[in-house]
Amino acid sequence: MKPLIVANWKMNPQAPDEAKRIFNYIKISVKDSEVIICPPFVYLPVLNSLISARKKNGGGGIKLGAQNCFWEEIGAFTGEISPSMIKGIGCRYVILGHSERRRYFNETDEMINKKLTAALEAGIRPILCVGETLEQKERGEGPAVLRTQIENGLRGISKKDMPKISIAYEPMWAIGTGKSCGIEDAIVMSLVIRKIAAQKYSRSVSDKIMVLYGGSVNSKNAASYIKEAKMNGLLVGGASLDPKEFLKIIKEAK
Ligand code: PGA
Repeated sequence: MKPLIVANWKMNPQAPDEAKRIFNYIKISVKDSEVIICPPFVYLPVLNSLISARKKNGGGGIKLGAQNCFWEEIGAFTGEISPSMIKGIGCRYVILGHSERRRYFNETDEMINKKLTAALEAGIRPILCVGETLEQKERGEGPAVLRTQIENGLRGISKKDMPKISIAYEPMWAIGTGKSCGIEDAIVMSLVIRKIAAQKYSRSVSDKIMVLYGGSVNSKNAASYIKEAKMNGLLVGGASLDPKEFLKIIKEAK
C-alpha cells in the first residue's frame, strides 16, 4: 500500500495566487505515494483545473479533498456544502470530524456519522479524525475516547464500505503544538483503532483500513510514523503550507 499523505490547509492561504503557488511546487511521482490536498472550499475549482492540466501533460498523483461537507444533498441549509457539490468540483476525499470542527463548531459523533454516510453515498472517501485531549490522555482515557468516536462515527456503515474509509489518529494535544505523539504511543493507538474495527467488523476488514497519524508532523518525524509505527499515511496541517517541507515529508514517508 502506498502511504496516503493528506495536506490539511485549514483556513489558509489568504489568496488564490498563493494557493496556486503552493500547489505548483508539489510535484510527485505517482508510483511512490498518494497525495491529497485539502484546501479551503473556494480554492477547489482552481486547483482542480491545475490537476486536469497536469494530467494532460502526463503528470498526476495529486488528488483533491475537502475539509468538511454537510449530510444533506440540497435545500435550505445556509452556509453548507453537499457531498455531491464537492464531488462535482473534483474532490475524491473529505476530512470529517476534525478536532477543530468538534471543538469550534460543536460537531458531535452523531453529526459526523451522518456526514460520513452521506459522503460514502456520493462516492467520496471519508477520512475520519479521532483523538483525545491532553486531560483525557493523562487520565488514561485515550483508547476509550477512540472507541466512542469510532463506534459512533461508523454507526450503520457496512463492511463493504469500510475499506473506503481512512481513520486518522489525531491527538488534540499534538495538533499545531509542535508536540508530536511519541512513536510508542502511536503504535499503541493504531493497534487500538484496528482492534476496535476488528471487533465491530472483522479482522480482514480491519486490515484493509488505512490508519493515518496527524499532529505536528514534519520532515523529521514523518518517516518514523510510517516505518516504525506502521501508519498507512499522515495528515499534515501546518507543515503542508510550506511546500518545500511538505515535499520532504512525502519523500521521507515513501
Ligand atoms: P498540524 O495539524 O500538522 O499543524 O499539527 C494537523 C491537523 O490538524 O490535521
